[in-house]
Amino acid sequence: MSALDPSVIVGVVGAGAMGAGIAQVAARAGHRVLIQDARAGAADAACGRIRADLDKLAAKGRLSPEDAAAAGGRLVPVEATADLAPAGLVIEAIVEDLDVKRALFGALEAVVAPDAILATNTSSLSITAIAAGAARPERIAGLHFFNPAPIMALVEVISGLATAPEVATRLVETANAWGKAPVRARSTPGFIVNRVARPFYAEGLRLCEEGAADPATLDAVMREAGGFRMGPFELMDLIGHDVNAAVTRSVFDAYFGDPRFRPSLVQQELVAAGWLGRKTQRGFYDYRPGAAAPAA
Ligand code: NAI
Repeated sequence: MSALDPSVIVGVVGAGAMGAGIAQVAARAGHRVLIQDARAGAADAACGRIRADLDKLAAKGRLSPEDAAAAGGRLVPVEATADLAPAGLVIEAIVEDLDVKRALFGALEAVVAPDAILATNTSSLSITAIAAGAARPERIAGLHFFNPAPIMALVEVISGLATAPEVATRLVETANAWGKAPVRARSTPGFIVNRVARPFYAEGLRLCEEGAADPATLDAVMREAGGFRMGPFELMDLIGHDVNAAVTRSVFDAYFGDPRFRPSLVQQELVAAGWLGRKTQRGFYDYRPGAAAPAA
């Protein structure tokens, strides 16, 4: 089973942080990429952001101006799920909610070809549950990129109970062809990275809640002494607290309320305030122009 040929059209549903990053990766690998989002104007805006990123890469000499222009030219914003019909691979990167994802996969199945692969970028939800009820659950798998998708090499390829081995293998080969470093996993809550990373966030949040030190200090310690690229608070601000809290909740529920994975009240407050991190310019830190001090 070989990688998808670059002539195969890729559909990306969800034009947020991850969808835009994934679309950029696929376009740079030579695929025409159809991008769809439920929010009016979001797919168009994502194409603009990706093209600006490609231009920056070209300006820094990391990509030739011709390749940047060609990749940008392969991005096509579309309006409706039905417009994804020509895609041979659709990658879903919408809200981390099982019911919403299942509804989307039902709608996708109705429009794509019988041999199209349907992949989800879910961070934590059961691939088996997302595929349950699908007419062809064997062509549904997890293809989990990390943030920012154009930079992070790791991709988890996750099989649910019904995923056909050749579908997982094709995704592994495709991720390799896209310059990524895929690793296979079976569908378990949080898969590999988001399972292992839970205590990194949870213990950081508990230390903060207990008043041991503030987020900036804890981040600095983890970076400078712990050797991590980012501390837990700046990483949660990058991921988005809505996304991170939904992942924690889904892993906590999947492990029958195991207290090790208990969600954080501090993070719940940030989500309630709409302080979702970098994407809203406020989270644990304040990213608004002119702001100097941490926001929380
Ligand atoms: P985001 O909030 O930046 O973007 C989600 C986009 O999906 C929004 O533009 C929204 O309008 C759109 N959307 C929501 N429901 C939709 C629907 N039914 N049909 C079409 N579009 C819809 O979220 P982000 O961060 O890009 O996350 C997306 C997915 O990727 C989630 O499942 C998340 O768990 C996963 N993920 C997130 C990572 C992160 O660091 N933020 C890392 C890896 C995976």
